[in-house]
Order: sequence, then C-alpha cells, then structure tokens
Amino acid sequence: MTGDNSKVAIRDLKGYAGKTVRLQGWLHGKRTGGKVVFLVVRDGTGLCQCVVEAVAADAFALATDLTQESSLVVTGLVRVDERSPGGVELAVSGLDVLQTAQDYPITRKAHGIDFLMDHRHLWLRSQRPVALLRVRHTVIKAIRDFFDSNGFTLMDMPVLVPGAGEDRQSLFPVDYFGEKLFLTQTGQLYLESACMAMGKVYCFGPTFRAEKSKTRRHLTEFWMVEPEVAFADVTEVMELAEDMICDIVAAVLARNRADLEFLGRDIAALEKIVKPFPRMTYTEAGELLRSADLRRKLELELAQETVRLQGLMADLAAAEESLKVAKKGWQQEKLELRIRELREEIQELDQELRVRPDHIRLAQSFAWGEDLGGSDETIVSRQFERPVFVTDYPRVAKAFYMKVSPADPRVVKNFDMLAPGGYGEIIGGSQREENPDVIEESMKAKGLQPEDYAWYLDLRRYGSVPHGGFGLGVERTVAWLCGIRHVRETIPFPRTMGRVYP
Ligand code: 4AD
Ligand code: MG
Repeated sequence: MTGDNSKVAIRDLKGYAGKTVRLQGWLHGKRTGGKVVFLVVRDGTGLCQCVVEAVAADAFALATDLTQESSLVVTGLVRVDERSPGGVELAVSGLDVLQTAQDYPITRKAHGIDFLMDHRHLWLRSQRPVALLRVRHTVIKAIRDFFDSNGFTLMDMPVLVPGAGEDRQSLFPVDYFGEKLFLTQTGQLYLESACMAMGKVYCFGPTFRAEKSKTRRHLTEFWMVEPEVAFADVTEVMELAEDMICDIVAAVLARNRADLEFLGRDIAALEKIVKPFPRMTYTEAGELLRSADLRRKLELELAQETVRLQGLMADLAAAEESLKVAKKGWQQEKLELRIRELREEIQELDQELRVRPDHIRLAQSFAWGEDLGGSDETIVSRQFERPVFVTDYPRVAKAFYMKVSPADPRVVKNFDMLAPGGYGEIIGGSQREENPDVIEESMKAKGLQPEDYAWYLDLRRYGSVPHGGFGLGVERTVAWLCGIRHVRETIPFPRTMGRVYP
C-alpha cells in the first residue's frame, strides 16, 4: 500500500520519509523525558522509535502509562533521524492501545537460560530469538532453492516407521493401534526407493533421536534435509554437499547481515567459506589427533584462554565496583547489562576450559575403530577455517547401509562434514552399499533383522545402481552460522532430554 496513513512495516519505513503512516506492533521499551515520551515499538520486522510529545495530549496520556508488550497501533509522521535504529523515527499524532499487557515476565534485567526457555512462547519476541530464527528461515529457503534449481524433486517421507533407519539405540517407540512403531530417525531408506524412481530427490522434515545426550549439539527432535542421487559415487555426493553449503552461506550473508551483526558473529570468518573444502580420511584425522604437534598447540591455546578468562574476571570485578557507586539510572542499566554479558561469557569459557585437558587426553588416546567423539570433532574442526570433510570411517563405527570400500573392506565410502571453529559434524553422508549380501551381514552385526528390511533389499534386486546422499542438520548449521554455542536456540520450541515445555 502507498499513500498517506497506510499500514507500513517498520523495515520499510525509510521509503516513507515525510509521510504519515500507521504502525502496528508491541511496546518493546519506553523512556520518559518531561514533555516527551519515547516509545520503542517492534512489529517483527524491526524496531522504531516513536516520539510522543505532550501537545498530542490524548496520545501522550496513553503513552505515559503504556506497559511493555502492550499491543498498539501508532499513527505518525516519518522523520529522517540518523541516530535512530532504522535511520527514521515516527512523530506520533495518534495512538490506539489494543491491549494493555500486565507485568511482562521478560524484563531488561538478567534472566537465566532456564527461565527464558520456560517462557519460550514469550521469549520468541526478543531480538536475539528473532535474529536467530530469521537466519534459520534463510537457511531453509536456501536449501530448498539449491535443490529445486539443481533438478531435485522434493519427496516427503513417513514419520511413523516400523524400524531403525540408523541404529536401534536411539528409537522413540509409538503405540500404533497396539503395534509398536517408531518415530523416524531419517528419511533415507525410503528416499533411496524414491531416488530409483526419480533420479535426484530430497526430503526435508523433522527427525527424532532418543539419544541420552545432554550436549550442546543434541536435540531429540531436529530438522534434516536429505538428498539422494542415483548414479553417483561418494565424491559426487561430497561435491553436492560442498556446493549446497556455499549457497547457504552466501544466502545468509546476503540476507541476514544485520542479524549476524546483532548476534556478534564474526562475519569475515563466514566470508572465507568458499570451495574447495579440505578433505582428510578418518585415519588421517586420527593421526592428527594423536600428534605431538597438535598436543603442543592445544596446550598453548589452553594457557592463552586461561589468561583471557582471568582478564574477563578482572573486568567483571571492576564493573561490579562501578555499579556500587553509579548514581544515574541509565549508568546502572548499562553496567548491569555489561555485568550480565561478562558473567555469561565467563561461565561459558570456564566450563569450556575445565573440560579441555580431558579432551586433549582423549585426542591423544584416539584408537582406530571408534567413531570420532564429540570432543575429537571439536578439536579437528577447530584446526580449519572452512568446513572439513572426514572420509572413510571404520565400517564397525557406522550405519549398515554404507558402501564397504572396495580398496579397504575395513572402511566405508562415507563422509562427515565438520563445521569450522569447533562446531563439529553438520552433515553425515555416504555412498550406499549395493550388494544385498553385504548389507545383510552389516545388519546382523548391528542387531537388525534383514527380514524387517525386505522392501529395502528389493532395491538391490531390481536394477540397483551406485547411489548416495547425505543428511544436514538444520539446527547445528544455524548454530554454526550464527556463532552460538548451543543448538537449543536455533529452533522455535526445542525438544531435548530435559525439556518438552512449552
Ligand atoms: O549423521 P546422521 O545420523 O545421518 C543420517 O541420518 C543419514 N541417514 C543421512 C543420509 O545419509 N541421508 O545425521 C545427519 C545430520 C548430522 O550431521 C547432524 O547435523 C544432524 O543430522 N543430527 C542432529 N542434530 C541435532 N540433534 C541430534 N540429535 C542430531 N543427530 C543428527
Ligand atoms: Mg552422523
């Protein structure tokens, strides 16, 4: 809509300078200064400072009493003001309050993560969740655009399934009219049949893992995109994953710069994510982990980080002292914010540094044959500025469907992609085994019954071809791109071992 007095989203306000418009939103914050009230209004697209002067008597009276998160409609003149968040502000002529909010629980003061998560339905309105979830939106759109423009067909796969797609340990059982079913761990097995129908396909949906892992990387419900390609070997599948990641990063850099800045993400580091990504085998990763060079490097980093931690603690003590003597309200608010940020940073770093000596020991005692541990992935991926492919894992450590390497039957033709900066695995993929006898043998070794997978084995009987694919976890990818430690904030309502509310 154009013209005067039209509904405008805050993000578009700049184009309406000199015009009178209507904003619809919620009260984010308020400052009062004698004959003027400054309302900071949010509408989901941005923040706008709305200036209510005493001469607009009705609006002024309403604005004075307005509480945080009250819903409102503001009419006013758009004025250019370089000091304002979006470069413009609104000179208010009319104010309608739709509902006056009562004691909104999330205030400007420090709240712990548990309190915020208990109020996730309201916390979603804050700037940090909005920034993170906007990035999530871009990631999902970039993934769809990538596959849609590269000849893939979207195929939705079932959520209720009769058996394991990955392993037996992490299945969620569901009572299905007296029969035991499970929530899907992956769409892959079904997708393999779709791939024999259409050539290049992908599925994108929620997947479930009853993993008893309370780590920063684990959710029990997460979203995964999985492409599957007929007539492809593992090298081609890796190139597909590389291209997809480059497109995702480019899209986020193009559309979410302000969000990344708000989150404090090192944007220059993201700009370095270009092809080709480094590649190493699992065996080489093991050699790296055990090397004396790496140990020295990790110990040096630990010492440096410990010094940094001490510096932060000194800053915190200084800020706490200043708070004791701060007189003005705004000074106190600023210091309280700084103290909260410092406390969070200190707590995170302290936790991290406490476990590092163990992680160094674990890396040094790496034994060929086990999957890479979480801390091993962290260490390997901290050595690179780009995502790194780790390939050819031991057959015993990986899923039954992975193709056994013709060159070395102890390993499979698979890869994990580890995101840089210690983020660890964001993608797992492989070429698929074509020989039904080999698959049956792997199934039995992992406690699965080949009879339960008769339909899957059929794919190897009727025109089997080399094929492969991968799965990318959306939440881990968003956490990496946004530079936040924990995946729990990258999905609107996270499900973890300890949380299913709200
Ligand atoms: O490595 P995974 O288990 O691979 C599969 O499921 C294959 N069937 C994919 C395929 O080849 N079609 O999981 C793939 C990705 C991981 O790299 C990770 O990003 C994410 O899914 N993921 C999780 N994310 C959050 N919480 C969890 N518990 C996750 N488990 C896996
Ligand atoms: Mg994996």
